[in-house]
Amino acid sequence: MHAELDIVILAAGKGTRMRSQLPKVLHTLAGKPMVRHVLDTAAQLDPARTHVVIGHGADKLRDALSDHRLEMPLRFALQAEQKGTGHAVAQTLDQLGSGKVLILYGDVPLIQRETLVKLLENVDETHLGLLTVTLDDPSGYGRIVRDADGEAVAIVEQKDASDAELAIRECNTGIMAMTGAQLKRWLPQLSADNAQGEYYLTDVIAMAADEGVRVATAQPATAVEVEGVNNRAQMARLERAYQTQLAERLMAQGVALADPSRLDVRGTLTCGHDVFIDVGCVFEGDVELGEGVRIGPYCVIKESTIGAESVIDAHSVLEQCVAAGRNQIGPFARLRPGTRLAVKAKVGNFVETKNADVGEGSKINHLSYVGDARLGREVNIGAGTITCNYDGANKHRTEIGDSAFIGSNTALVAPVSVGRGATVGAGSTIAKDVADHALSVTRGRQIEKADWPRPKKQTP
Ligand code: UD1
Ligand code: CA
Repeated sequence: MHAELDIVILAAGKGTRMRSQLPKVLHTLAGKPMVRHVLDTAAQLDPARTHVVIGHGADKLRDALSDHRLEMPLRFALQAEQKGTGHAVAQTLDQLGSGKVLILYGDVPLIQRETLVKLLENVDETHLGLLTVTLDDPSGYGRIVRDADGEAVAIVEQKDASDAELAIRECNTGIMAMTGAQLKRWLPQLSADNAQGEYYLTDVIAMAADEGVRVATAQPATAVEVEGVNNRAQMARLERAYQTQLAERLMAQGVALADPSRLDVRGTLTCGHDVFIDVGCVFEGDVELGEGVRIGPYCVIKESTIGAESVIDAHSVLEQCVAAGRNQIGPFARLRPGTRLAVKAKVGNFVETKNADVGEGSKINHLSYVGDARLGREVNIGAGTITCNYDGANKHRTEIGDSAFIGSNTALVAPVSVGRGATVGAGSTIAKDVADHALSVTRGRQIEKADWPRPKKQTP
C-alpha cells in the first residue's frame, strides 16, 4: 500500500517508574511484549523499513526482537544517550527513504491500523499528519496550539506552557507522520533550548507551520489507542481495556462469557458457536474451542484444540493438547503436551497425562499418571494407576489394547503392553506384557486367620 513507508518506533527510554529490571517496552500486555503489539500493527501497514530506536536495555531488546516472525526487515538504531524524542528520531535519519515516515512508540501498544491509515492519508510535501486526542485531564501532555483559523501551528510541552496553553485540552499523542524529506530538513534544526533541555520532536510542528506546510490532525477511534504506559497501574489498566475489547468481540461472535471482566486471553482464542466460558479462565497462544464447548471456572488452556461438545470442568490445566470432541475433562485435571483424546475419552480429577493417546470412549477417571502411553478404545484405567515411564535415564512407552481393564492402584512398569480385553487386578505391579484377554495380578495373596486375637496393651 505504502511502497515507500518508513516506520520509526521509539523505545530507548528507561521506564524508571516501572521499577523493573526489564526494559519497559518488553513488559507484556496480553502475554505479548508491548513493543511487539506495535510491531504487529506496524506490519499491517506493509512498510518498506521499520526502525526501532533502542537505548536503555538495548541488548535485551535486540534479543527479544531477533526472533520476530514478521516478514518485515527490522533495523535497530542505537540512541546511546536519551536527549529527547527529536534526537531519538534523528538516529534513523540516514536510514530513511524519501517517502512517508510514521513515528510510533514502543510504550503505546494499542494503536490501531485504521487510525494510522487515516493519519498517513493526509501526508505529502505540503501536509504533515499529527494524531491528537482531547482529554478531560491533559496534564503531562504536549498541548496543541491552533491559530485564529483553527490551524495547528505548534505543540507546547507541559513544562514550557503558559497558563493559557495549559488550559488547552487537545493533546499531542506523539504519533505523527511526515515525509522523509521534511524530517531531513527539520530535525537538524532542533534546539534543546527548553525547560527539559531536550531535542523535542514536537518542535517540527512549528517549523512546518513556518514553512507553510499544513498540519493535518487526525484522532484515534478511542483514547485508549494512544495511551502510553509509564507505570504498572497504567499497564494493568491497558491490559483490562484490551481484554474488555476482546471479550466484546467474542460475545459478538456467539460466545457466552459468565463475566466478560474475568477473562484473560494471551494469544488467539477461536471459538465455535455456543461456547460457554466460566469465570477466571486464562487462554494462552492459539486455542480453538469447537461448537458447544463448556469451560468451567479457573481453567488454564494453552495452545490446544478442544473439539465440539467437550466439557472441561473447574481448575483444569491443558497445554498442547488435542481433544477430538465430546470429551469430559476435569475438574482438577492436568493435560500436558502431547495429550490427544479421541472422541468421548474422559480424563477426570487429579489425573495427569503427557504424550498420551487416549482412544475413543476410554476413561482415566481418578488420581492417575498416564505418560508416554497409547490407550485403545473403551479402556478403563482404575484410580491410582501410574505408568512408570521413567527409569531414571530414559522414557519408555506403555501400550494398552482396546477394552482392557486396569484395576486400581496399578503400576505399569514401561516398556510394557497390556493386550486387548485383558484385565489387570487391582494393586498389581505389571512389568511383563499381558496377553490379550488374560487376567494378570501380582499382589500377594490374601491370607485369613479366623478369630485373630489382637495384641493387648501390657500393664506394668
Ligand atoms: C511526549 C511528547 C508530548 C506528548 C507525549 C505523549 C515530546 C517532546 N513530547 O512527551 O508532546 O504529549 O509524548 O505521551 O515529544 N524516547 C526515546 N528517546 C528519548 C526520549 C524519549 O526513545 O531520548 C521515547 C521514550 O522511550 C518514550 C517516548 O519516546 O517511549 C516518549 O518520550 P517521553 O520522554 O515519555 O515523552 P513525554 O514527555 O511523555
Ligand atoms: Ca511519556
